Amino acid sequence: MSQLIKNGRVITATDDYVADIFIEGETVSAIGKNLSVKANKEIDASSMLVFPGGIDPHVHLDMPFMGTFSSDTHETGTRAALFGGTTTVIDFVLQTQGKSLQSALDNWNSRAKGNAVGDYSFHMAVTDFNENTKKEIKHFIEEEGITSFKTFMAYKGALMIDDRQMIGLMEEVKKCGGLINVHATNGDMIDYLVQKHREEGKLSPLYHYLSQPEVTEAEAAERFVDMANFTGCPGYIVHLTCEGALNAVRNATKRNQKVFVETCIQYLILDASLYEKDFEGAKWVMSPPLREKKDQETLWAGINQGLVNVVATDHCPFMWEQKKMGENDFSKIPNGHPAIENRMELLFSEGVNKGKITLNKYIEVACTNPAKIFGMFPRKGTIAVGSDADIVIFDPNKKHTLSAKSHHMNVDYSGYEGWEVTGKVKTVLLRGEIAIENNECKIEKGFGKFIKRKKVSQNI
Ligand code: URP
Ligand code: ZN
Ligand code: ZN
Repeated sequence: MSQLIKNGRVITATDDYVADIFIEGETVSAIGKNLSVKANKEIDASSMLVFPGGIDPHVHLDMPFMGTFSSDTHETGTRAALFGGTTTVIDFVLQTQGKSLQSALDNWNSRAKGNAVGDYSFHMAVTDFNENTKKEIKHFIEEEGITSFKTFMAYKGALMIDDRQMIGLMEEVKKCGGLINVHATNGDMIDYLVQKHREEGKLSPLYHYLSQPEVTEAEAAERFVDMANFTGCPGYIVHLTCEGALNAVRNATKRNQKVFVETCIQYLILDASLYEKDFEGAKWVMSPPLREKKDQETLWAGINQGLVNVVATDHCPFMWEQKKMGENDFSKIPNGHPAIENRMELLFSEGVNKGKITLNKYIEVACTNPAKIFGMFPRKGTIAVGSDADIVIFDPNKKHTLSAKSHHMNVDYSGYEGWEVTGKVKTVLLRGEIAIENNECKIEKGFGKFIKRKKVSQNI
């Protein structure tokens, strides 16, 4: 099967030109002006943008968390991602404390394999680092193609590891050629503030926000950066939200240390005033919480300064009934919000259209850098001869309104209900196959492949 995408404006992290793209099988085989090739199907992309499929390296699908499961499965979540122009996601496998990494991977494989519609990979979340876990790291990197290890400095009593475990894990991961991802907030401080607010009868979603002030994130980011510097281990801070935490990374650059930083779309465009809406604020109960307007400015600037490398989602959806588990106590509201389908369009509309980032920067942070950092480049994350034909054809002028009534995520509310967006995904190809066309998904569950990743490179 071959396809020819004609006359699109091709955007990568570095280029911007009008050309035809010829696809044979799963990969791009030629790019050029007025290509004279015969294809099974021609797609007219005149006046459209044509860019690489988005990569969302931070999603939680079908994840057991806070007494329930996130509501998108690997099927519904990767399908919704495709509708929004994201062709590959990286999901998190969670180790059960006291058990092996392999048993956690087996568990996730049993739910993801044969179900994913879009391509996916896994990060391995280490919640119990010990002599046995240590022996598994090399195997994960070299045999499983899972090269990134997630750690939580928060969620005390559940997922959190201490600094002793962190240092031990960093030494092993560095030795084997991997990378540490971190949820960098101070779990002890947060635990203290949560208990304090509960004892004072302060139980609304607002107190979720007030239990995680900026200092809890800034302190942990600085500690993580220092530990990464001490061990020499490559580090990646997930869902960084605020000025204080970004300054910790900025300071590290002064000693020529590179730490990768991810923020998420919600931290760029939403702010903490949403927690003043009584229990409705539960829609945005996530960790870290939404911050202030000044933090949004810091993050947009951080992207342009090259300090913030990736814009992800931390997609972790829960039905409203699940959110209501915390109706009388904010600490029982499952943390997370849905965005896997909205990221590419929101970042284009709010970032590119409003002049905050360039088109090339848009592709860099949403597609290319995640592929590079997580060992999938140049197979994924760009449009080039030999790369997977994961391609988005995007109408930059089409206006539409985000709503739970029309989205494809398995969640009964939208964190962006009524949000007016300019720019819409029109057609999506995944490994040369039409995945989305005429607002319909054309591929079935099981089409999505597990992507084995290479060792990390710090050159992005
Ligand atoms: O609120 C969040 N972020 N939920 C998902 C788990 C995590 O911390 O990433
Ligand atoms: Zn987290
Ligand atoms: Zn997360």
